[in-house]
Amino acid sequence: MSLNIGGISLRHGLILAPMAGAADASFRAVCRAQGAEYTVSEMLSAKALCYEQLSRKTADNTHKTANIARITPPEAPCSVQIFGSEPEFMARAAALLASGEYRGADDGRLLPVAIDINMGCPVHKVVSNGEGSALMKNLPLAGEIIRAVRDAVKIPLTVKFRAGWDADHINAPELARIAEANGADAICIHARTREQMYAPGVDISIIGEVKRAIKIPVIGNGDIFSADDAVRMITQTGCDGVAVARGALGNPWLFREIAFALDGIPYVPPTDAERLELALAHARDMIARKGERVGLAEARPHMARYTKGIHGSAVARDAIMKAESLDIIEEIFSGLCP
Ligand SMILES: Cc1cc2nc3c(=O)[nH]c(=O)nc-3n(C[C@H](O)[C@H](O)[C@H](O)COP(=O)(O)O)c2cc1C
Repeated sequence: MSLNIGGISLRHGLILAPMAGAADASFRAVCRAQGAEYTVSEMLSAKALCYEQLSRKTADNTHKTANIARITPPEAPCSVQIFGSEPEFMARAAALLASGEYRGADDGRLLPVAIDINMGCPVHKVVSNGEGSALMKNLPLAGEIIRAVRDAVKIPLTVKFRAGWDADHINAPELARIAEANGADAICIHARTREQMYAPGVDISIIGEVKRAIKIPVIGNGDIFSADDAVRMITQTGCDGVAVARGALGNPWLFREIAFALDGIPYVPPTDAERLELALAHARDMIARKGERVGLAEARPHMARYTKGIHGSAVARDAIMKAESLDIIEEIFSGLCP
């Protein structure tokens, strides 16, 4: 299998899906190093980026939105995901991001290789503004947004959405056709409705339906927690690539495992010691990028996840979530893996 996103060629089509609050620069870099071929930023508000750029303040904390789009070499190729419901703001934000001509987040950053439009976020705060998956209820506006962003940037454009709003309104194939007609280079479909949020169980047949509806590449997404899950999605739906979100948390090696399965090569999983070594490197990188306080707070849930499956880790996870320094986490790890 291979995936081509507007000229960006990925041998296995393995993508780290966007995860606000989890797939930050550090985690994207970790996943890239373990076989993800392409990453996507956390979602950022197009309108917030535009307003932030208009504001005269220049202190670091006034560029919070721009910071989300900060890409460094270990995460590349990385696409930046934007959300919003107003075509003009979406177009302006995309143009700013693609040109790199915005203030903030400018030390060592790379340009995004693509822009991804979020039409799948189910969160109330987003949907109540007509953004994210609410756009699946307004396909003409969804089309206008895609067209406006397409006209604003030359780099590849992708759109991520769900099966539909609810079981009575499954319209992903229709939105896929609209995305294709308005110039998208690929689409990513999460095989759940908005109503399902993240409830267990996905019906991946919708991915096959979308694949049959359009000619541009289709990236399948939803409940890939093992190489078997990925292979099943690819063989059953004919999708051109897969995006993995939760399955990579605590297990970034999943990408390599999937690549090996696709190549028919036996896969040897990392030892417990190797897992915890990478976990610590991940935490150190988070602290280096975000500072001790924020970095450690955000690293704790990642660290807890890395211990899953290791003997005696249930108790350790509680301690990790309370650890006040990385040294303490390191000590807990040594107890697990002497
Ligand atoms: C913590 C978290 C944050 C997420 N943030 C985003 C986001 O910013 N943009 C987006 O399009 N999807 C977001 N998603 C959805 C995932 O990209 C993905 O579509 C969904 O989790 C299903 O894939 P999975 O079963 O592999 O987790 C998020 C999911 C999680 C769990």
